[in-house]
Formats: sequence, C-alpha cells, structure tokens
Amino acid sequence: MLNSNENGFSEIIRARIVCASKILAIKFYNMTRGPPIPKLLVSRLHCIRRGQMVLHDINMTLHDGGAMILTGPNGSGKTTFLRVLAGFIKPSAGYLLWNGHDVTKSSIYELYKLELHWMGLKDAIKNKLSVLDNVEFWETLERKSGKSCKALEFMGLGHVMKEPAQVLSVGQRKRLQLARLLAIPRPIWLLDEPSVGLDREGVKLLEYIMAEHRRKGGIVFVATHIPIKLEDAMNIQFPPRTPKSKTLIDLM
Ligand SMILES: Nc1ncnc2c1ncn2[C@@H]1O[C@H](COP(=O)(O)OP(=O)(O)OP(=O)(O)O)[C@@H](O)[C@H]1O
Ligand SMILES: [Mg+2]
Repeated sequence: MLNSNENGFSEIIRARIVCASKILAIKFYNMTRGPPIPKLLVSRLHCIRRGQMVLHDINMTLHDGGAMILTGPNGSGKTTFLRVLAGFIKPSAGYLLWNGHDVTKSSIYELYKLELHWMGLKDAIKNKLSVLDNVEFWETLERKSGKSCKALEFMGLGHVMKEPAQVLSVGQRKRLQLARLLAIPRPIWLLDEPSVGLDREGVKLLEYIMAEHRRKGGIVFVATHIPIKLEDAMNIQFPPRTPKSKTLIDLM
C-alpha cells in the first residue's frame, strides 16, 4: 500500500509523463505533416503540338486563394497551357496534380473537371436563347437555381435579361460569360483573355469578382495581353516561339 505522500508523487509523475507524451505527439505531428499539399502542382510539364515543342518544362504550384497571370507574345503557349490545365490537351511529359492526384487519370479527371470554369474566346452562348436562359441553363445542369438573375444584374445585364442573346454586343457577351462564373460556383477559374471586349468598368468588375473569388479560397489563372490587377499573383512569362519579327530597317 502507498501512503498519501507516495500516492500524490506518483500522480505528479503520471501527469508529467502524459504531458510529455502529448508534447512529443504534437512535435511528431508537426514534423511529419509538412507543408500543405498545393491545390494544383505542375511539374516538368512539356507539351508538343504537331511536332513543335509549345510548352517546355513548366513548373508551378498554387494553393487555395492563389492566382497566376500568364503573359507572353502571340503564339507563345498561354492558351495551350490553360487547355492543358483544363484537361483538353494531355501533356507530352510531366505532371499535373490536383490535391496530389494525377489529373491525366480518367477517374481523377471526372472529379477534377467539376472544379473548373473554362472561359475561352469562343463564348458558348446560344444566340436563340434569352440572356437569362444562357446562364440558367448551366445553373440547372448543376442542379442549382436562384443565382442567375443576381449574377446578370451584377454584371450590368439586368435590363437585357429577357432579350435573345444575339442582341448582345461583344462586351456584353463577355459580361454574360462572367455572370456564369458567379452563378455557378466552381473553385478553379481558367480565363483566356477575359478582358477582351470589356470597357473600363467591365475590367474593374472582372478584377473585383476575381479578388472575391480568391478571398473565398478560389484559384484564378488568367492569360492576358493587358495588365490586370490581381494582388500577389504569380506570373509565368512565356518566351516567344517564333523569331522576332524584323524591323523596317532590317527589311530595307
Ligand atoms: N490546335 C492546334 N494544333 C496545333 N498547334 C496549335 C494548335 N493551337 C495552337 N497551336 C500552336 O501552339 C502554339 C501556341 O499557341 P497558343 O494558342 O497557346 O498561344 P498563345 O500564347 O495563347 O497566343 P495568343 O496570344 O495569340 O493567344 C502556336 O505556335 C500555335 O500555332
Ligand atoms: Mg491565346
């Protein structure tokens, strides 16, 4: 039998052992946990099209809330890179990992593609449908409803919602595409020259919705020829693929 003193002493020892083992467990957890897995990781990515190396050794990581601006001259590979990220083109070499999973595997791609919004130069707008139907159609496909009107109003198209889409101007068509991004929430936005056709206020709206999207943890890729405000965005500058065009003096 232990007396009360010995009993108290063994309680203290036991408490200290428990405490020390908890600290060790936390330290071990922190050591083994490492940095969080990036949402998207591109490693040693190459892409050959028609025998030409279009993308050469691209490496990048992006976490939730991140943004990447793609710049470079015409034909340098910006759209190609976006198309690889969208899974429309398979890389010739290298990896594209989403949450650590290889996107080129079809089972993973089926899940990955549900995370994506693609906005290219072809606008996928049905001219005969109304402006509203052009957004609601996609919302219904996602089995959601209720955001299309608000999204169109936000993008300044409230007054033409009931009109057939064919009456829209170039910039208004772009605004309709942006309204789709708002109405159907998806975390990864792949935007190919989203500012083309937009007026100054439209560009401001674009910058605003991209910032808001990132604030909620979304990711944005933007290929652009004009400067776009995207705070703390990373940048891939694609080198020219064709010899620099000759100047007038060269030609004389
Ligand atoms: N469908 C295709 N098949 C084969 N090659 C293609 C195809 N589309 C583009 N390319 C080639 O890939 C290269 C990169 O084109 P890409 O469209 O990615 O350039 P970009 O940087 O987006 O140019 P831009 O600023 O003009 O939009 C170009 O040399 C182009 O000719
Ligand atoms: Mg392009």
